[in-house]
Amino acid sequence: MQCILTCIFFRKCNYSSCICNLFKVKHYVCLSCESVNECPSFLSPSARCQAVQAENVTVLEGGTAHISCRLQNYDGSIVVIQNPRRQTLFFNGTRALKDDRFQMVLFTPREVRITLTNVSVSDEGGYFCQLYTDDTHHQVATLSVLVPPETPTVEVKEDAVEGGEVELACVSPRSKPAATLRWMRNGREVPGVVSQQDNGKTFSISSTIRLPVERKDNGAALSCEAFHQALNGQKRIRHYRLDVHFAPTVRIVPPSGILREGDSLSLMCSVTGNPLPIDIQWSKINDSLPERAEISGPTLQISRLSQSHNGTYLCQAQNNFGRAADHYTLLVYDPGAVVETHSAVPYAVIGGVLALLVFTVICVLIVTIWCSVRQKGSYLTHEASGLDEHGEVQEAFLNGNDASQGKKEYLL
Ligand SMILES: *[C@@H]1O[C@H](CO)[C@@H](O)[C@H](O)[C@H]1NC(C)=O
Ligand SMILES: *[C@@H]1O[C@H](CO)[C@@H](O)[C@H](O)[C@H]1NC(C)=O
Ligand SMILES: *[C@@H]1O[C@H](CO)[C@@H](O)[C@H](O)[C@H]1NC(C)=O
Ligand SMILES: *[C@@H]1O[C@H](CO)[C@@H](O)[C@H](O)[C@H]1NC(C)=O
Ligand SMILES: *[C@@H]1O[C@H](CO)[C@@H](O)[C@H](O)[C@H]1NC(C)=O
Repeated sequence: MQCILTCIFFRKCNYSSCICNLFKVKHYVCLSCESVNECPSFLSPSARCQAVQAENVTVLEGGTAHISCRLQNYDGSIVVIQNPRRQTLFFNGTRALKDDRFQMVLFTPREVRITLTNVSVSDEGGYFCQLYTDDTHHQVATLSVLVPPETPTVEVKEDAVEGGEVELACVSPRSKPAATLRWMRNGREVPGVVSQQDNGKTFSISSTIRLPVERKDNGAALSCEAFHQALNGQKRIRHYRLDVHFAPTVRIVPPSGILREGDSLSLMCSVTGNPLPIDIQWSKINDSLPERAEISGPTLQISRLSQSHNGTYLCQAQNNFGRAADHYTLLVYDPGAVVETHSAVPYAVIGGVLALLVFTVICVLIVTIWCSVRQKGSYLTHEASGLDEHGEVQEAFLNGNDASQGKKEYLL
C-alpha cells in the first residue's frame, strides 16, 4: 500500500507537516501552495496543495454568466459556491439556494462551473469559490453586468418657431457603464451639453443642443447616436427631423390667357406654412362670392363666367403663427371682343429674340465689311475700327457698302 502523504496546515500556512494516511490521521489539506515548499522533498505529488481559482466574468444584462472555479489537486473536499451576499448557492454540488437561474453544469476534479441565466444588474458582485476544509480557502469571481443603451429618444422642450431657437435633448435613460451620446447634422458633430445621472447601478444620460432655426430648416435631418462598449462598435441611432413652425404664405396661381363669357375659371391657391393652414378662405372684395363659385380645398371654380363675375378675389390662410393673403382680379371679356393681351412676358421674350437676331445680323455684316475693307489696305482698316469705337453699330450697318466706297473717295 502506498503511503499518501498529506500536509497538515498550520496557521498562516507558514508551516505544514506531512503525514502518511496509513496512520489514519485526520485528512488535512495544504491551503497555500507556498506551504508545499515547506514540505519535505520526499512528499508524493498527491500531497501537494490543493487550490481554487476563480475568473472574473462580464456579461450583458439578460444574458447567461458562466462562473468557474478551477481546482488544483482536488482531494474531494467540499466545494462551496456563494453569491455576493454570501448565501450558499451550491454545497458540493447540491443546490442550497432556491433560485432556478443558477445551475451547476460541471463538477470535475479540475473545475466546478455554474451558470446564471437572465442576469440582472443586481446579480453583480463577487461570487465565492470556497474549499471547505479546516480553514476556508476561497477565491472571488467578480461578475460585472453591462447594460447596453436602447436607441435614444429625442425630447423637444418647446415648439421651434422660425427666427427662434430650438432645444433638443437626446436621452438614453439606462445604460451601464454610461453610454456616450453624439449629435450629428450633415455628417458633422453638433456639440451638446451632457448631463449624467446615477440611478443606482445604471446611468441615465442626456445631451442637449440649442440651434437657431429658420424656415429653411424645417424638415432638416439630425441624428443622435449612442455608443457603448457592449454594442461591439455598433451604435444606436435616433433620427430626428426639425419641425420649424412658420407663418403661411399664399399665392394664387392665375389662369393663363384671357377669359371670356362662358369660359370656366379655376383658381388654385397655393399655401405653405407650418402647420399647414387647414382652412383656406376664398372671398370677393366688396362683394359676396358668385353663386356658381365652387370651392374644393384650395381651388375656386366658377363655371360659365359672366361679366358680373368681374372683381377681385381673395385667398386667405392662417395658422397660429400668422396669416397671409393673395388676390386675383378677374376680368371677363365679351365673347367677340378683340383683346390685346397685356401679358408682358411673351412680348418681352419675342422682343428680346428679335433684338438678338438683329444684333447678330449686324455683327455678321460688320465682320464681313471689316474683312473686305482690310483687304484693301491698312488705312481703311483703321477707319473701320474707328467706326466701331463710336459704338454706332447701326450707322455702320446702314452705311454698309457705301461706306467703303465713301471712305475710298475720302482717302483719295
Ligand atoms: C477581478 O475583478 C476584481 C474587482 O473588479 C479585481 O479586483 C480583480 O483584480 C479582478 N481579477 C482579475 C484576475 O482580473
Ligand atoms: C464533493 O463532490 C465531489 C464531486 O461530486 C465528490 O467527488 C466529493 O467526494 C464530494 N465531497 C464530499 C465531502 O462529499
Ligand atoms: C429576466 O429577469 C427580469 C427581471 O430581472 C424579468 O422581468 C424577466 O421576466 C426575466 N426573463 C426571463 C426570460 O425569465
Ligand atoms: C371696395 O369698396 C371701397 C369703398 O367702397 C373702395 O374704396 C375700394 O376701392 C373697393 N375695393 C375694390 C377692390 O373694389
Ligand atoms: C368686366 O371686365 C371687362 C374687361 O375689362 C370689361 O370689358 C367689362 O365691361 C366688365 N364688365 C363689368 C360688368 O364690369
